[in-house]
Amino acid sequence: MLIKRAEAIKPSEITDKTLYLKRREFIHSTVGMFAAASLLFTVRSRAAKTGDGNRRSLDYVKKREYSSDEPQTPYPYVSGYNNFYEFATDKESPARLAASLTVAPWSVVVEGEVARPGTYTLEDILKNRQLEERIYRLRCVERWSMVIPWIGFSLADLIKRFEPTSRARYVEFTTLYRPAEMPGQRRSVLSWPYVEGLRMDEAMHPLTILATGLYGEVLPNQNGAPLRLVVPWKYGFKSIKSIVKIRFSEHQPRTTWNRAAPREYGFYANVNPDVDHPRWSQRRERRLGEFFKRKTLMFNGYAEEVAHLYKGMDLRKYF
Ligand code: MTE
Repeated sequence: MLIKRAEAIKPSEITDKTLYLKRREFIHSTVGMFAAASLLFTVRSRAAKTGDGNRRSLDYVKKREYSSDEPQTPYPYVSGYNNFYEFATDKESPARLAASLTVAPWSVVVEGEVARPGTYTLEDILKNRQLEERIYRLRCVERWSMVIPWIGFSLADLIKRFEPTSRARYVEFTTLYRPAEMPGQRRSVLSWPYVEGLRMDEAMHPLTILATGLYGEVLPNQNGAPLRLVVPWKYGFKSIKSIVKIRFSEHQPRTTWNRAAPREYGFYANVNPDVDHPRWSQRRERRLGEFFKRKTLMFNGYAEEVAHLYKGMDLRKYF
């Protein structure tokens, strides 16, 4: 992503160095890579369970439909290599700095073009809801990717409950603004609070979920606890974390990254190997935990499910 205060350093350079260091923790050669990663997983899992006590398992059903059968990214990458600018602009600090974020009680304000606006507690939102595990790829605009067993529920099901009006064409999401607990918000790296948006048909698509967990457990704070969006065919920055507001509107919302750098981050942000980021190609990506890069797939491999949403649109213009 863009780090405004350090223009001399290319984000690509930072990422590669971090990856290199990360990789050294895990592997000394490509052979045995997964064995090493799973060993580390076991060690860290145990440490976390006996340590802060924040890890709790969840009840859920596995959802085969849409789930990827690719190897899952080792948990330490998923919970230890995060973009969460409310805490820090590097990838390692959010895990540490987010640990003390207060995530209960939590409520979400629903407003705009809906028949049932209001303030809904997280318990309200989750009431009578069967959580599902969906194994989805996440592709960051910075060219790394992961495969994550998310736990959550269909956003469409929740939206229906609020009864959007016929004027609701877009959904806007806002992250918590709490500088006392989110040190990154004390600096103007981005305009706070973080805002993201979807077109209504994207929000209602069965692939789009709100996640409350991953790897069978409650969502770690650094991954967007207690409630974050997951839109697997879009670059990672669309999957907004720690949501406190959902607003339905007639007009396309102004989103944080688009405001920060409109040439670099479009509203749609669909994963598209044919549309370069102005500073790098999007043709390839590095799956965290793997050595060799792989080809990036159109719509992150979900073209069959979502390409029809963009039929007739010039994807170079609406990137
Ligand atoms: N949401 C908020 N509120 N703040 C952020 O900085 N970063 C985004 C997205 N959601 C971000 C956010 C980016 S750039 C990515 S790649 C993903 O979160 C990373 O999600 P993960 O840390 O769970 O892998």
